[in-house]
Amino acid sequence: MPIQAFNSVSDGLDSGTRDRGHFIANLDIDDDKLWVPYADGVWFQPCCFNVTSGGFSVLLKGLPGAQLGVHYHVGTVRGYTLQGHWRYLEHDWVAKPGTFIYEPAGEAHTLVVADDSPEPALIMFIVEGGLIYLDNPVDGGFAAYEDGFSILEVCRDYYRDAGLDVKQLDALIR
Ligand SMILES: [Fe+2]
Repeated sequence: MPIQAFNSVSDGLDSGTRDRGHFIANLDIDDDKLWVPYADGVWFQPCCFNVTSGGFSVLLKGLPGAQLGVHYHVGTVRGYTLQGHWRYLEHDWVAKPGTFIYEPAGEAHTLVVADDSPEPALIMFIVEGGLIYLDNPVDGGFAAYEDGFSILEVCRDYYRDAGLDVKQLDALIR
């Protein structure tokens, strides 16, 4: 769940233990346990928690007909579609395998996986900075907030509950 209350946060690592080097993340789209539940019919696997800038990178999976709540991005987003058909309600294109999208900062949109998508959508998202879930697509007010810190906590909570190795997430923090 995105957060609705704010406090000062950190990456949760001991002082001086955040690695600055390069790393790889090996996702496994066939391992159901690695998919972090996010919304009805939507999961993700984390790739990077950029707590330096507040952003994050994830591989998102959405079942046909699944939807994410309307949200506003304070920074740019880049996305690449590996499989499935999806779109934003606010745009007239449909993303299909191979579609890259660039979203400027300041955009509000509602992600929907097509009802007739031939397979679940798999989309790689690189998100710069936080996003604000809205209570309304037009003149929307604050509903909840997500960024590299809150996504990290979502993942840590899930990994603990699922019996996965939480330390694996620390390796994705920059
Ligand atoms: Fe978005």
